[in-house]
Amino acid sequence: LPETRLYQSNDKSPLQIFVRAKKKINDIYGEIEEYVLETTTFINALHAEAEIVDKAERELFESYVYKVAAIREVLQRDHMKVAFFGRTSNGKSSVINAMLREKILPSGIGHTTNCFCQVEGSNGGEAYLMKEGSDEKLNVVNIKQLANALCQEKLCESSLVRIFWPRERCSLLRDDVVFVDSPGVDVSANLDDWIDNHCLNADVFVLVLNAESTMTRAEKQFFHTVSQKLSKPNIFILNNRWDASANEPECQESELAKVKSQHTERCIDFLTKELKVSNEKEATERVFFVSARETLQARIEEAKGNPPHMGAIAEGFQMRYFEFQDFERKFEECISQSAVKTKFQQHSSRGKSVSGDMRSMLDNIYERITIFRNLKQDQKNMLTERIQGTETQMMQVTREMKMKIHNMVEEVEEKVSKALNE
Ligand code: GTP
Ligand code: MG
Repeated sequence: LPETRLYQSNDKSPLQIFVRAKKKINDIYGEIEEYVLETTTFINALHAEAEIVDKAERELFESYVYKVAAIREVLQRDHMKVAFFGRTSNGKSSVINAMLREKILPSGIGHTTNCFCQVEGSNGGEAYLMKEGSDEKLNVVNIKQLANALCQEKLCESSLVRIFWPRERCSLLRDDVVFVDSPGVDVSANLDDWIDNHCLNADVFVLVLNAESTMTRAEKQFFHTVSQKLSKPNIFILNNRWDASANEPECQESELAKVKSQHTERCIDFLTKELKVSNEKEATERVFFVSARETLQARIEEAKGNPPHMGAIAEGFQMRYFEFQDFERKFEECISQSAVKTKFQQHSSRGKSVSGDMRSMLDNIYERITIFRNLKQDQKNMLTERIQGTETQMMQVTREMKMKIHNMVEEVEEKVSKALNE
């Protein structure tokens, strides 16, 4: 138990895989941006000096500046997304609250989730709501007010309300996990729209079941559609309200174990044989028996400095609490790895193609510069040769002239001495 707690409260959390990868890729893109800007300035100067690069090339280089800036912006906003589905009242909102360690989302009677609610971290300690299609920040003073605001809203069930909650209040929000709560899958006829609007970019899905009953057709159908639209979605199954089974009067431990193994078998079969999204080994690591309500109560007690078991509802609290933490750890590993792959793989291949394109363009320009330089050198060589030729000719002429003058002088001298003699 202490080890698990350590996981959640410090930087050993598996979510750090995503956090570190995000920082790294952001830094790399910062360098790419610098390199692109520097190159563009250089190319423009080159154009001003000698017309080696043409207009189209210069425009292409400038387009890379915008491209890289756009990717950087997307990167800043990238997050890990988990979406919760299941029948009404199974405890979807309660599971999210337990993970957030605070009762943020309204739950229970009179607080049925009637539209999609996304909880994400906000900076600067602010808490506010934003409705779909509006940029207006609706301030949330406290949780009660948030519940009222959500209840009063007459929103379409597939619309989205975004709840921004201070990052520092929960490590999952701090590390860029975004939670999506949904209305019960049994109340909607628009499941296709739900998937198209809210699920296509989800990294992990959590099916919240009621451990007191069996999985319904609506729940199965929903995940069949999800797995048709997405290739191998990551699905976790929580058999919630497990405390209630333990609380059943005259329910013996052996009977409980039998029910548990029946549920486990059905859930594993659903993931492996029906949806075919996991293999047997993986599926066994994706099915949990928990109590969201109890976990939340335990965490609220912990926050007050009390031992967690003060939040216990029924016999067997430690096991359920441990299983919830085990779910969280496996979920964190899965979501961070999946998000790194789906989000950053794309960005890094784009970054690679931008720098590859720029490199080949620069190689091309360099080649042109070399040809240009060689041409100049050739011209220079020709000129030098010509000058050298002229010099030789001049020397020849000079030598001949000298000879001639010498001969003439000798001839004159001879003539003069001859005349003198005579
Ligand atoms: P909708 O939003 O209406 O679809 O329901 P939901 O799936 O979000 O369920 P919600 O979290 O609102 O929980 C419904 C009721 O069940 C609430 O009163 C919860 O307190 C209760 N509940 C949730 N989880 C548990 C649990 O693990 N054990 C027990 N005993 N009660 C739970
Ligand atoms: Mg709900």
